[in-house]
Amino acid sequence: MKRIAVLTSGGDAPGMNAAIRAVVRGGLEQGWEVFGVRQGYAGLMGGDFVSLSARDVGGIIQQGGTVLGSARAPEFKTEEGRKQALANLEARGVEALVVIGGGGSQSGAYVLSRMGFPVVGVASTIDNDLYGSETTIRVDTALNIALEAIDRLKVTASSHHRAFLVEVMGRDCGYLALMAGIAGGAEVIVLPEVESDPEEVIETLKAAYRRGKAHAIAVVAEGATNNANELMLYAQENQKRIGFDLRVTILGHVQRGGMPGAFDRLLATRLGVGAVERLAGGEHGVLMGLIRGEILATPLDEAAGRKKPLDLGLLEMARVLAK
Ligand code: F6P
Repeated sequence: MKRIAVLTSGGDAPGMNAAIRAVVRGGLEQGWEVFGVRQGYAGLMGGDFVSLSARDVGGIIQQGGTVLGSARAPEFKTEEGRKQALANLEARGVEALVVIGGGGSQSGAYVLSRMGFPVVGVASTIDNDLYGSETTIRVDTALNIALEAIDRLKVTASSHHRAFLVEVMGRDCGYLALMAGIAGGAEVIVLPEVESDPEEVIETLKAAYRRGKAHAIAVVAEGATNNANELMLYAQENQKRIGFDLRVTILGHVQRGGMPGAFDRLLATRLGVGAVERLAGGEHGVLMGLIRGEILATPLDEAAGRKKPLDLGLLEMARVLAK
């Protein structure tokens, strides 16, 4: 093999740059030329390739986002789009592709692989719902951002005896909300995986005050049926009866920005190097992930389109500890 390409796709992430750097420098070490594809699958279809040297990826390990850019590219779901992508790879003599991204991106990788093109995926999503990796690039950094916000809100909640709703990202997966809720000592955690009742959420917050707590925090997943907006609406409609003030903070994309922490830099580096090693060994059609502390490959036909289940036993633990 002489040439490979690397792209970042889906939501950007602190840690993606560390993975790009690892793929580029690892690939160069193998004697390959490494192309970066700009703007994910959109750039793959549009032929937006750039040859990368070791210096081109210098000083990026600590940078958030992705120097290659990322995009959501619905056109890649069409037969025509994929054929164009393959034609662009072939025109440059690229023989393998590394896809750094989450669920949708790895489904795209699987499709290319089924079309006969060698692809290796690198697990990177804030949502941590990818099957084949216990945790993924940027989950740790995003969690720490959420925790910093929760810790700050707790201070203000205590001063004013107010209740706060903090909404975290995660699409339809409650991992970030569950972990941020546990580590942030939240009184209530609302997840997409578990049906919730707005009245019960409010009652639990009220009960916290009755037990003498100075603050009451609910961590809510954006994908929950009763997300922060729904709960706020309910609280406003029933304000008189509820009898306390509720404030909402939606963290949203704030969790995606910023510098990657040590854990994400190391994970991304190991996954990127792992992808190159598999390709060098002639293996492809796999997703690189972290399993029991090791960097291992899971076949894309097992991982793509499959969601990792959430450990809901932890929700009960959080409920007990919120006393
Ligand atoms: O999948 C990552 C993620 O940040 C989700 O948590 C969130 O729902 C979504 O992307 C937001 O997408 P966009 O950045 O396209 O608005």
